[in-house]
Amino acid sequence: MIRSAYCNWLAAAAAQFIVVALANAQTVVDDSLALLAASGCAACHGPAGLGTALAPPIVGPALSEEEFRAGVRNARGSMPSYSVEVLSDGVLDALYAYSSAHEGIGVPVGRVARGAEVYERVGCYSCHSNQGQGIMHGPRIAPNPIRWGRFVWYIRHPSGQMPPYSPDVLSDQDLADIYAFLRRRVQPQPVESIPLLAP
Ligand code: HEC
Ligand code: HEC
Repeated sequence: MIRSAYCNWLAAAAAQFIVVALANAQTVVDDSLALLAASGCAACHGPAGLGTALAPPIVGPALSEEEFRAGVRNARGSMPSYSVEVLSDGVLDALYAYSSAHEGIGVPVGRVARGAEVYERVGCYSCHSNQGQGIMHGPRIAPNPIRWGRFVWYIRHPSGQMPPYSPDVLSDQDLADIYAFLRRRVQPQPVESIPLLAP
């Protein structure tokens, strides 16, 4: 009898603990979303930092702490740089903690052979060359293309000389196939292994 009362108490205590833990996790998320909005990030990156037409996603483990900090302090393209006077290191840390805890945007499964076909059909090769190694008209994009979330955003909204590709021309699945193709290109040889270029 006593034993079962104790068990009931334990079960109730455990349930209570879980409720409190869940409530805390929820508060952390709510605080982070409020911080994203208050710091102005949400206006371009979306309410949860998942990206919009104006800016790429800024959540997920693929974005390292260095990249996150550099992205904010020494911004590129149309993003304003935030100095420490405008955005304290503490707030930056909190924003990064939210970003890195987020599961991010998964890379969909892509088919390498189909990716090669699409890459050629829509003309990526004409600027990035047939293996993505880069030529005069465009930089190297293989075998280590930029993060998936940013890859999709950039191809839909490039900021430089590259033409934009809308989903009517290139679906997300086409992009996933191209991405798989790029990731499977051969690694360039290290300079030291090429006798003519070795230091
Ligand atoms: C006016 C719109 C705008 C605002 C406001 C803004 N960003 Fe950005 N952000 C961008 C754009 C556009 C890029 C992509 C820049 C590029 O590389 O062309 C970017 C890039 C980034 C990157 C780099 C992402 C990567 O993949 O390398 C990080 C990190 C980032 N922003 C974080 C933030 C944070 C945190 C805030 C709020 C403190 C913020 N941004 C506010 C538009 C904005
Ligand atoms: C007309 C030439 C041209 C075409 C066609 C083109 N690109 Fe680009 N691409 C560029 C240039 C130039 C850049 C460098 C930044 C800029 O000017 O936009 C670039 C940048 C990129 C980047 C970003 C590289 C980075 O490190 O940030 C990716 C990814 C990319 N291109 C992929 C593609 C894919 C995939 C296709 C085909 C769907 C494509 N490009 C078609 C010229 C082109």
